[in-house]
Amino acid sequence: MKKGLIMALLVAGLILAGCTTSEVKPKETPTKPVETPTKKPEKTPTPKVTPIPTPTPKPTPKIETAPIKCTICHTKAPNYSPHANGGKLCGNCHGWDPHKIHVGAGTINLDCRTCHGEPPNIVVPQPMEEGRTVCENCHAYPDPLKPSYGNLINIHIPRGKYCTNCHGTDVASLHATADKFAQG
Ligand code: HEC
Ligand code: HEC
Ligand code: HEC
Ligand code: HEC
Ligand code: HEC
Repeated sequence: MKKGLIMALLVAGLILAGCTTSEVKPKETPTKPVETPTKKPEKTPTPKVTPIPTPTPKPTPKIETAPIKCTICHTKAPNYSPHANGGKLCGNCHGWDPHKIHVGAGTINLDCRTCHGEPPNIVVPQPMEEGRTVCENCHAYPDPLKPSYGNLINIHIPRGKYCTNCHGTDVASLHATADKFAQG
């Protein structure tokens, strides 16, 4: 009797597993839709119809790959003033609410105690000094609970977020001033 029940459950389980696997096929990485060459419409007055957007596949979290190694030339990137004094900029990209960044679904979901300590010694982190933001209290590498003093390079590069994550990969437009030597 018991054996029969177990078998039945097992079979049911297998069937369910079968169903789910057939439903949740690993999503193919969407290939970029081939751009159709835009043909100029003939003289017919184009009716104002909002073009149906091609369903853009949700891109998998972008891991920028660098076309070239930026640090071949930019050997002093940590000392560039916008990087070294990057503490004021964190919120431009990440927002300023520490809770939205660190707590809850879609975040690393830190325990409150990581930043606020344990009772009875609850603390509310404050900027270390005038002119700094509270973000700079943390995010050193490798210990994220040590102060980073806002150095964008030391915060991001060792954690695998390269120059291109922030600057993009269009090296030519980043260096458009190089074209100033061109004639005409
Ligand atoms: C072969 C050397 C070289 C490489 C490699 C290089 N750069 Fe540069 N970059 C320069 C020089 C020189 C300048 C300053 C002159 C200029 O603005 O073009 C510069 C300027 C810049 C600027 C400032 C532009 C401005 O107008 O303020 C940015 C941003 C930058 N580079 C980002 C990058 C990134 C990101 C990479 C890697 C993808 C990279 N660079 C790779 C040489 C290089
Ligand atoms: C110019 C935009 C920009 C600024 C300014 C910026 N960040 Fe980021 N940061 C990013 C991007 C882009 C990522 C990568 C996000 C991703 O992969 O989802 C990132 C990722 C991170 C990560 C996660 C790294 C990991 O382990 O995955 C931390 C921590 C971080 N930033 C902290 C900071 C702090 C602190 C500051 C201010 C001192 C700051 N950021 C300023 C753009 C920025
Ligand atoms: C990444 C660090 C971090 C984590 C994790 C965190 N907090 Fe905070 N919290 C802060 C900072 C920094 C402030 C100071 C306010 C500010 O700078 O916006 C703060 C402020 C607060 C305040 C307001 C205190 C006041 O005096 O205004 C409360 C309440 C609070 N946090 C509760 C929590 C709770 C509950 C959790 C867990 C669910 C939590 N926090 C997780 C960093 C954190
Ligand atoms: C008390 C320390 C503390 C403070 C203050 C703090 N953080 Fe963090 N932060 C952490 C820790 C610890 C982590 C998790 C470890 C890591 O990703 O390096 C983290 C992770 C992050 C991440 C990555 C989140 C993810 O989901 O992967 C970002 C982005 C970030 N912090 C930005 C900020 C910004 C912006 C501020 C200021 C508004 C700030 N942090 C304030 C300690 C802090
Ligand atoms: C977390 C984001 C972030 C990362 C990572 C990052 N930068 Fe920047 N960088 C900035 C911001 C923000 C500025 C100031 C605003 C701007 O010029 O876009 C800046 C400015 C610069 C400038 C101009 C400096 C000046 O004084 O005007 C250069 C050059 C540059 N970055 C190169 C690099 C290189 C090379 C790397 C990698 C070694 C790198 N950046 C990594 C965010 C970043």
